Order: sequence, then structure tokens, then C-alpha cells
Amino acid sequence: MKTAITEMFEIEHPVIQGGMHYVGFAEMAAAVSNAGGLGIITALTQPTPADLAKEIARCHEMTDKPFGVNLTFLPGFANPPYDEYIEAIVKGGVKAVETAGRSPEAYLPPMKEAGIKVIHKCTSVRHSLKAERIGCDAVSVDGFECGGHPGEDDIPNMILLPRAAEELKIPFVASGGIGNADQLAAALALGADGVNMGTRFIATVEAPVHQNVKDAIVAADERDTRLIMRGLRNTERVLNNAAVEKIVAIEEEKGADLQITDIMDLVGGVYPKVMQEGDMDIGAWSTGMVVGLIHDIPTCKELVERMVNGAEETIRGRLASFL
Ligand SMILES: Cc1cc2nc3c(=O)[nH]c(=O)nc-3n(C[C@H](O)[C@H](O)[C@H](O)COP(=O)(O)O)c2cc1C
Repeated sequence: MKTAITEMFEIEHPVIQGGMHYVGFAEMAAAVSNAGGLGIITALTQPTPADLAKEIARCHEMTDKPFGVNLTFLPGFANPPYDEYIEAIVKGGVKAVETAGRSPEAYLPPMKEAGIKVIHKCTSVRHSLKAERIGCDAVSVDGFECGGHPGEDDIPNMILLPRAAEELKIPFVASGGIGNADQLAAALALGADGVNMGTRFIATVEAPVHQNVKDAIVAADERDTRLIMRGLRNTERVLNNAAVEKIVAIEEEKGADLQITDIMDLVGGVYPKVMQEGDMDIGAWSTGMVVGLIHDIPTCKELVERMVNGAEETIRGRLASFL
């Protein structure tokens, strides 16, 4: 399959693995890139820019295909040394960066100078247009179904993608809720030039997370995610568990008075315990509604090939048969 996204990132298949905290290590990124997609290392999972440089070097040892790095610009209070992380990306010879969170505008010049293609992930048409205006090369349009932070507009992809297609001139991929071949075909029909997946890639053989995490994803269905932190305007879609039930109860009790400190021990610093130790009830972790469509744990190569070949079959077979 050849699209504007495969051309831009010099990849075989229009499938990107979104940045994921404590999942996006070199093993994950290399497996997706070796499968012909675009694997992505998550910069801020690395404690320092020097650690990111080492992770990029490790990934180069595992694949000779292109891979990217995710740079998440966190809400105001946190301020990692982004300039130094970008220096590590540039020096590491990485040619694709997925930005997310706040606007990447201030950080674009050194990346553009290094010839890096920047794909900004956003949850609304207006933010996508801003990304286009400030010089991003592509957008990852992240619908309300997504795992992680769906924003505050609550627009699902059946509306968001065709709206993005109406407005955007730069290419975009469909992100959020994607996990199978027919959804890839649907995303292309709705104007996207590919897909970005998070949750689906966690339930793969190579994902460097505890088996409990993969099993929980396979066991869950589409009703098993919850939205937390709405009151803080930092909404996150997570898998329901004992900690999430506690968070929801605290949020209901505190109402408009909710502060991040009220739930901090249930949302802060829990990722290593979930992803590496497999402690499934310790806190809230991002998961998308696509869990309802995830029934197995394939290799990344099996998954990507199944999606691309299946999408092709759907387009040539079922869809063409209507004409
Ligand atoms: C466990 C997990 C951690 C994530 N961490 C990040 C992150 O650190 N930065 C980021 O930009 N997106 C993050 N995301 C969002 C993904 O990159 C992607 O946009 C999202 O998962 C797409 O929705 P899907 O899960 O329905 O495929 C995370 C998602 C998951 C499931």
C-alpha cells in the first residue's frame, strides 16, 4: 500500500505505533518498524536525554528501518529539558517525531533543520489546522475512542476523520480505536492516509510489558474503559480496575473541588508498576475502547500484515462488489 504517509516516512505499510509511556522502548519500536510500519520510542519514559540517546542507539541495533520518537509536551507544571531531548533525537539520526500535548511550535526549528518529519497528534480539527499552520508535516487525528488523552471535545472518529479531511491540506492518519483490517480500510475511505495504534500494539508478542497487561487487554471488552480527570480538564481513557473505581468515587465526592493531589497516588508514577511488574490494580493506565476488538497476541509482523492484507481484501472484495 502506498500513501502520502508511507512516502513521507519511507515505510512499507501505512501503520504507525503511537508513543506509549513505559511501552515505547526500543524493543517495541524496532518490532513495528521491522514489520514495515513506523515504530516509535517514547522520549519521556527515558529519565534523561542521555538515556534517550542510548535507547535510540539500541533501536538502531535492532532495526535498519526508519523509526520515530514521541515527544509529549506535558501540561504546564512539568518541564522536562525538551531542547536536550531534541538534541538527542537529532544526533541519533532519527527522521520522524510524533509530538503530542501542547503545541510543538517553539520546538520545531531544530527538528526542521535536521530534516525530521513531524507528525503532531491532536484531538480536534482546530488543533490539527494549527499544526498545519505552524509547519507540521502531518497530523495524527485522535478520536474520542482513543486510549490516553482524548481531549475535551468528545468527537469520535466517524465524525472527526471526515471533518479533518474537509479542512486539512497535509496528510493525516486515523488514531484511536483502530485495531483491525476493516478499520484500516474505513480510515482510508474517510480521508486518512494511514492509521496510528496504541492499545492494539501492547497486545503483541514483542511489546516489552508484563504478560498480565497483555492478558488484561485481551480479556477486556469495549465497555471496560473509563474516563478520569474530566474535572481537571486532563481527561484520560483508562482500563477499569480497583484503583480506577476509587478515582471515580473520589471524583464524584469532590465534584468541582477536585484537585490532582486528591488522586495523585492512583495516577502518578504507576506505569512502571503496571507495565513492568504486572500489578494490574495499582493505578490508572491508558487503554482504548479498541480492547473490544483485541482477541489475541500476535507478533507485530503478523498484526501489521493481517491488517494491510485484510484491508486490501476488503477494498478489492467487499467494497468493489457493490459497484
Ligand atoms: C498505555 C498507553 C500509554 C500512552 N502514552 C502516551 C504518551 O506518553 N504520549 C502520547 O503522546 N500518547 C500516549 N498514548 C496514546 C497513544 O500514542 C495513541 O495515540 C493512542 O493509544 C491511540 O488510541 P488507541 O489506544 O485506541 O489505539 C498512550 C496510549 C496508551 C494505551
